Amino acid sequence: MKIGVVGLGYIGLVTAAVLAEAGNRVVGVDIDKERVKTLSEGKSPIYEPELQEVMSANDEALSFSGNYASLKVCAAIFVCVPTPTIEGRIDLSFVIAASRGISFNNPGATTIIKSTVIPGTARMIHEEMRLNVVSNPEFTSEGSAIQDTRHPDRIVIGGYDTNIVEDIWRFTGAPMIVTTNENAELIKYASNAFLATKISFINEIANLCEKVPGTDVEVIAKGIGYDKRIAPYFLKAGLGFGGSCFPKDTEAFVSFAKTVGIELGITNSAIRINKDRVSHVLEIIKDALGELKGRSVAVLGLSFKNNTGDTRESKAWLLVEALMHHGCSVKTFDPIVKVSIPGALACDSIEKCIEDVDAIVVSTEWNEFKILENMKPKVPVVDAKRVLNQSQITRYHGVGLNEVKN
Ligand code: UGA
Repeated sequence: MKIGVVGLGYIGLVTAAVLAEAGNRVVGVDIDKERVKTLSEGKSPIYEPELQEVMSANDEALSFSGNYASLKVCAAIFVCVPTPTIEGRIDLSFVIAASRGISFNNPGATTIIKSTVIPGTARMIHEEMRLNVVSNPEFTSEGSAIQDTRHPDRIVIGGYDTNIVEDIWRFTGAPMIVTTNENAELIKYASNAFLATKISFINEIANLCEKVPGTDVEVIAKGIGYDKRIAPYFLKAGLGFGGSCFPKDTEAFVSFAKTVGIELGITNSAIRINKDRVSHVLEIIKDALGELKGRSVAVLGLSFKNNTGDTRESKAWLLVEALMHHGCSVKTFDPIVKVSIPGALACDSIEKCIEDVDAIVVSTEWNEFKILENMKPKVPVVDAKRVLNQSQITRYHGVGLNEVKN
């Protein structure tokens, strides 16, 4: 099948690569000329495990363009453009512009909306542009996006004329929920809000553990996670959720619900708890150091989570800024992110980063940082993501831990 993808960010590019691998011819379109040029040279502009390999192995089936006219030959076109928020409300302008591009160039194609959009968006586009609009939200995570797209837990498809989308994803063998556009749109928000709530829940328990001697949130998470109804996933306490999805989607979800007169109290609390995480961890660092002013701190990890170079809404980044704001000098290291935060010193190795500092903070859950267990640093180590084995670190301070030493 000839398939189009509009918007070549994490989701669009991964979708394009996996659909090419599945035997389709895929045309990717993006308004960013630099990105199109890089892609046309066969190079991925982003770091995502396996993406470069899948692109290279399927380069004959993949083409890239800055022009919507290239979509004329496609039977189905995915819309994977961003849906940012402006003052907490969703901004649909990129989705609308992409849909217009499709309606001018190939109105007969099925338009498949993968971007996260509030309920009613697909219907509005259908009514305004007379396109066959199918909703097909994505549930892939950065860092495992290729695997998640090849082997999804489920495929959600909403709309009237959905056969072509069912055909496209049949190769995954995943269960399909075929429903209305609005249900599909809402499933996406409810999924992200639920996962974000699980994270904030465990972070609240972490706060409690820190006040109760003899408790450890890691053990509590394990103890509750064995219950199949709770499940062990998304119960990792730490700096809170960042990234380009949970923070904006939870805000947009709350503000959408308000427009229909519903207060999403639980999601609101999840957002509030999440906003406190950086200052909470700052307090842990302060307790470990006595005071922050004039101290030098090594921060390991800048991306919003491991296995990605994405720093959007990264809590680690905010923590570096907060430390500097409180008078610390900060050195940083990240395995992938090579930009430096203004005012901080970016180092090219863990060794250089932790040299001559007063404290070390692990702020992203990269496995690479476990090497600290062998390095045996003498200064306090604040494990903001609970990556390390505390018994291997001399002066260990973990989020959600109040150990009683016997
Ligand atoms: C998230 C969802 O997991 C995907 O299902 C969804 O498709 C995607 O958003 C989206 O809407 O596009 P992603 O933002 O890539 O994916 O990353 P997650 O793995 O969900 O992590 C989000 C944040 O939560 C990270 O900052 C991570 O460190 C944090 N997190 C995650 C925790 O603090 N604790 C956990 O137990 C899990």
